[in-house]
Amino acid sequence: MKRAKYFLMLAVLIAPSSLIAQGSPKQQVLPNITTINVHSLGPQRIGNLPPVPVPPDNPQTSMKVQLGKQLYFDTRLSKDNTVSCQTCHDPAMGWSDAGPTSTGIHGQKGPRRAPPVSNAAYNPLQFWDGRAASLEEQAEGPMQNPVEMGNTLDNVVETLNGIPGYVEEFKQVFGTTPITIAQVVQAIAAFERTVVTTDSPFDRYIRGDRKALTPLEKQGMAIFNGKGHCTACHWGPDFSDGRFHNLGVVQTGPSKVDNGRYDVTHNPADMGAFKTPTVRDAGLRPPYMHDGSEKTLETVVDLYNRGGGDDDPNLDPLIVPLGLSKEEVKALVAFMRVALTSNNPEVAHVKPIPVSELPK
Ligand code: HEC
Ligand code: HEC
Repeated sequence: MKRAKYFLMLAVLIAPSSLIAQGSPKQQVLPNITTINVHSLGPQRIGNLPPVPVPPDNPQTSMKVQLGKQLYFDTRLSKDNTVSCQTCHDPAMGWSDAGPTSTGIHGQKGPRRAPPVSNAAYNPLQFWDGRAASLEEQAEGPMQNPVEMGNTLDNVVETLNGIPGYVEEFKQVFGTTPITIAQVVQAIAAFERTVVTTDSPFDRYIRGDRKALTPLEKQGMAIFNGKGHCTACHWGPDFSDGRFHNLGVVQTGPSKVDNGRYDVTHNPADMGAFKTPTVRDAGLRPPYMHDGSEKTLETVVDLYNRGGGDDDPNLDPLIVPLGLSKEEVKALVAFMRVALTSNNPEVAHVKPIPVSELPK
């Protein structure tokens, strides 16, 4: 209810400005829309992450999580035994990869950047275009994607059923044999639900440690939540509304025209719209955006400060020039890069399981 009201309010407030924006220079709408957003969106839509949501049909157990972790690091899930989930979602790289877009089997480049697995458990929808509704559903994607792991689900199951160590572990976790693909993705999803970052300086500040943020980071937080109206989309404990927006990102990926959410909904309003990513731990995984087209947090902020990149007819009405000074840009970047970078040892220091320790 609260959320519905918020979006209604948003729609009403931005409607007049978006009309003005059409056909007139961007500068003219600047003071208008930012002040409206700052004061009416309310500042406190960010905070600590709640306990991770777990679907009732896939309860967490420590044995299941351990099994999922083994699968996550096991290249035998790919067609030619070269690629695992870690290849593109590496704990050491903020649970993403070097980018700009991902590289799968035979060195093939995919069209999009790997979003982080950390905190993905909080996403209402998975993928940049939201085409999967759960982590379980999502996990089937990469195994059968020809440019990622290049396998078939039947083949994955056959391979695993040929590894006695896995057959035994799956039997202990799920109570049945043979191994099924549903069990494989349930175990992987259970592991992913433990990859949650709750301990950034921002989190400590919210929990009451007033010294956790420097004055510059506090200024950045105020801009994130005020003049920059970043919280219009990056709100909630995971800094994402889970919705889809077109920022006019200047697409540089292998497929220069990526329709984003439109390809899932065929709704013209979704043309060029992508899911709002979390900004938690963003400092750990440059480059940015769905195609890795922005190299640093500075260039991301610059894009927003300009009022978006391309002159896209479907540009989100909330993307307007911000008029942030150099000092304000610095503060905003410090807030994201330092204050939102977590220090959860159990997440940051997850070591890949060496081949010798995987089931045989
Ligand atoms: C070759 C690189 C590659 C491999 C291997 C890979 N992924 Fe991904 N992953 C991606 C890319 C790229 C996307 C975004 C694709 C899109 O949105 O269309 C993605 C998206 C995701 C997401 C959605 C996150 C979000 O915020 O929407 C999750 C979760 C995920 N992958 C988990 C996994 C798991 C689990 C595995 C192993 C079974 C895996 N990935 C293997 C590259 C890869
Ligand atoms: C209209 C909604 C909206 C607003 C307002 C907004 N963002 Fe975003 N943000 C997005 C979306 C959507 C993306 C991904 C776009 C894409 O890849 O095409 C994104 C991407 C990002 C990224 C890249 C993260 C990654 O992992 O690739 C950062 C950092 C970011 N935004 C920070 C900010 C900051 C700082 C502000 C305020 C100045 C802000 N955003 C305002 C929706 C928004």
